[in-house]
Amino acid sequence: MGARPLLLVDGVVKRFGGVMALNGASCAVTEGSVTGLIGPNGSGKSTLFACIAGVERPDEGRITFQGERLDERTPSEICEMGLARTFQVTRLFREMTVLENLVAVAHGRSDAAAVRRAQELLEMVEIRRLEHALAGTLSYGQRKLVEIARALMFAPKLLLLDEPFAGINPRLQNRILGYLKALHEGGVTLFLIDHEMRILLDVCETVLAIDAGEVIASGPPEEIRRNPRVLAAYF
Ligand SMILES: Nc1ncnc2c1ncn2[C@@H]1O[C@H](COP(=O)(O)OP(=O)(O)OP(=O)(O)O)[C@@H](O)[C@H]1O
Ligand SMILES: [Mg+2]
Repeated sequence: MGARPLLLVDGVVKRFGGVMALNGASCAVTEGSVTGLIGPNGSGKSTLFACIAGVERPDEGRITFQGERLDERTPSEICEMGLARTFQVTRLFREMTVLENLVAVAHGRSDAAAVRRAQELLEMVEIRRLEHALAGTLSYGQRKLVEIARALMFAPKLLLLDEPFAGINPRLQNRILGYLKALHEGGVTLFLIDHEMRILLDVCETVLAIDAGEVIASGPPEEIRRNPRVLAAYF
């Protein structure tokens, strides 16, 4: 497992009007790792992911992926570089079928190849039977699974997951955990936001803690769980 950082976030500031969502956030994600990101509500976790994915542009600082600057690129350029994400609130096309949602993001691939890939991914997350269902009719947990499958259409090197386990029953959480472990074994680096310490302890080598837009700690999960600054931010 290489120890070089795949992703580097350096001094990122992001303001929304008077709100300082990120206040000089810095962190690194090691290639081949599973890295977790925790922090209280409103601490800037999703904003950090939005900046990494190119959806929001940082006001200051820089972000590099495999040594290349990301913070001046468009979201689709960033996807093509091998970085994909899922959203905290799923963003599927509600009027399209599950299969169409996946195929719609497969640029530069023949339709037949895209459909084959989409079906394989739906198989993997065990919802192939729903391929012709309209996304708008799916349950919350099913939409989360489709989102993961859709992000994988990009065959990413780095996958950002914004609260993949939130609001999901423990059985489905364990299933998702199993899929993520399989992806990791297949060489995908994972960077995930979650509030569930149980899950982060189980799956992450490194956990980053963010508070008020700053990364305040990073280390093995058992260490982060006992870190006084982290405890003070959470309780
Ligand atoms: N598009 C936006 N416009 C204005 N303010 C925003 C926007 N996005 C985020 N913010 C603000 O930035 C701060 C950080 O929000 P963010 O969504 O990154 O937090 P979070 O850590 O993901 O929280 P949660 O755990 O609740 O998901 C909050 O104060 C939020 O209100
Ligand atoms: Mg969030």
